[in-house]
Amino acid sequence: MDRKSVIKTRLVNGAGNPSVLIVEFQTNALTKEVFKELNTILDEVEKCQTRSHDSRIDGVVFTSTKDKIFLAGADLFFLKDYVPAETSLSKQILNAIIEEGQQTFNRIENLKVPTVAAIHGACVGGGLELALACDYRICSNDKSTKLGLPEVTLGIIPAWGGTTRVTRMISLPNALKVLLTGAQFAAKPAKKMGLVDRIVHREKLAETALNIVHNTPNIEVTQPLTHRIIPAGIVLSKARKETIKKTNNNYPAPLKIIDVVSKSLGTRPNISLRLEKEAFIELCQTDEMVNLLRIFFLQEKSRKLAVSTESVKSVKDTAVVGAGTMGAGIAQWVSSRGVNVILRDVKDKFVSSGLKRVGDLYVDGVRGHKIDRPGARDGLARVTGTTSSGPLPNTDIVIEAIVENLEVKKNVLSAIESQVSNDAIIATNTSALSIDKMAECLDRPSNFVGIHFFNPVHKMKLVEVVKGKNTSDETVHRAVKFVQQIGKLPVVVKDSPGFVVNRILVPYLAKAAELLQEPGICMEQIDSTIVNFGMPMGPFRLMDEIGLDVCYHVAEDLKVRLGKDYDLSELSYRIGDHQLGKKSGKGFYKYRKGKCIRNSKKHENTSKLDANCSMLIEAMTDEAQKVLDERVCTDSDMIDFAMIMGTGWAPFRGGPLQYSQMSTRFV
Ligand code: NAI
Repeated sequence: MDRKSVIKTRLVNGAGNPSVLIVEFQTNALTKEVFKELNTILDEVEKCQTRSHDSRIDGVVFTSTKDKIFLAGADLFFLKDYVPAETSLSKQILNAIIEEGQQTFNRIENLKVPTVAAIHGACVGGGLELALACDYRICSNDKSTKLGLPEVTLGIIPAWGGTTRVTRMISLPNALKVLLTGAQFAAKPAKKMGLVDRIVHREKLAETALNIVHNTPNIEVTQPLTHRIIPAGIVLSKARKETIKKTNNNYPAPLKIIDVVSKSLGTRPNISLRLEKEAFIELCQTDEMVNLLRIFFLQEKSRKLAVSTESVKSVKDTAVVGAGTMGAGIAQWVSSRGVNVILRDVKDKFVSSGLKRVGDLYVDGVRGHKIDRPGARDGLARVTGTTSSGPLPNTDIVIEAIVENLEVKKNVLSAIESQVSNDAIIATNTSALSIDKMAECLDRPSNFVGIHFFNPVHKMKLVEVVKGKNTSDETVHRAVKFVQQIGKLPVVVKDSPGFVVNRILVPYLAKAAELLQEPGICMEQIDSTIVNFGMPMGPFRLMDEIGLDVCYHVAEDLKVRLGKDYDLSELSYRIGDHQLGKKSGKGFYKYRKGKCIRNSKKHENTSKLDANCSMLIEAMTDEAQKVLDERVCTDSDMIDFAMIMGTGWAPFRGGPLQYSQMSTRFV
């Protein structure tokens, strides 16, 4: 049965012993081709599963030949052509796609012989739906092993049986956690909630799967007592309330999932599968789904972005100069991706506090199952702190992350240039200063580039790669590849005040601060409306988080360089009064132990924008258009992408440029 195709199969044991068919996926996605081959294999298994047959099959193990992926789900590129599902033809095609998956996984579930999913690496979306159709699931304890149903993050519902099976297999609160967060769970939490039956070392995966087929153990999942006694109605109504609160009713998918779960619990699986399918097709008609799917494709685009086809060597050694908030965050992230880092600052105490921050980030990473203990230990060992300004002969890239001051940066960059080899890249993490101005102090400006990370580095995936007028294409290419190597998402931008993200954000923040000088303006109401519109926080809370002084300096800089007429007197007055935001305990709001104390007055809960909020959003959409017109970034999709990934700009609205085109359909 060996075949050269997307699925490999082989029979093990036999000759008197039970024969087990090993089905190995050689592909990441569940494409049409995979389903076709899988169904041919199932034809064979169904024929051979009766004991009277000569070449009988006594069990099936589904596994993968790949290093870090079991199965990563459906082929979304195929889906792209049929959404929004506005025509009856596209609905019919989606219907056929869903039915094919449901029927195939039903066939796996209905096999008479034991089936085991032996999972190593990512097992998400359709991959997990397949695994849920098996009798047993075992997984490796490797850090690449992750299980989840991320469909909700794409605005859809798991409809290849995932919703039906997960709610019947594990407790309802846990099933809702899997379905509504779209999170990917590492082996331990997955086992705890009952998604897998056993965790083993990768090397033991095959042997354990065969043992399970031979011995068909009775594996019982024990759930906390509370999970078994709370009635489903209460769990679902609580989930609905929490979802509405969390999403401000902006995302149809999670509410649809709750609907399907409440209607399908206690019904026959075939009815539940029908409900899943109908909900999927309905969701594929929404603008929200189309926008969320677009973000997925833009992420892929950024991941594969290349300035040239030249291959580049992986970066092994870096230096980060400045061990403050950003320097420490960058050092931790880069080292966690296998790259050595020298973390440099001017005084021992700054180096120590930077290293402590790196250590704390690793501890949080282990606690949050983002990295395992040995990985964290190795990562930490890759960071060396120093105050020495000696040579850095082996360093591939130096990232400068010192204070935002042009003259200070120029001095430091010029010193760095004399310490590194001729082909090393020198990068600055500046928020908004001119790359070209900084490059004036360098002998090799072609090697100089902006690599602008966002705060907090471990959470924000976006990195702006800023090309100065003398930056060579090769340097930009190497910088992009480095950003991709460390698992971040690059967007290439031109050296221009504020680049893309800060340039678009500043007019919005400046306008908000200016508004406060008008009578009758309620900042809580504005923040609330903007949050309901879909932003992670309103402009006043955001300025408090960034720091009013930082906002003022960046806005003042853009005002001068772009010739804007921002009125920054409100910010200036508050800074003079030491109202710097969260860090000083008071900004637009007051803070106690880092927590914002807000006026508890109830505000109108609506995503409709009043005139003031419309004006604020317009400040961003107008500026985004200017950024495109001035070719700061030549790709309009990537401008939207940068705003969503860099600021959390309402993802379901597609970013400022997309929103301004679609706004008549939304508000
Ligand atoms: P920070 O004030 O937390 O840290 C700056 C560090 O640089 C301090 O530890 C300081 O001792 C050190 N330093 C100063 N001169 C030095 C020198 N000659 N050699 C070595 N170290 C030196 O500043 P933060 O917030 O980390 O910002 C650093 C850079 O990153 C700035 O350019 C800032 O605009 C940019 N940035 C900041 C973001 C933020 O949210 N904080 C976000 C994105 C970029």
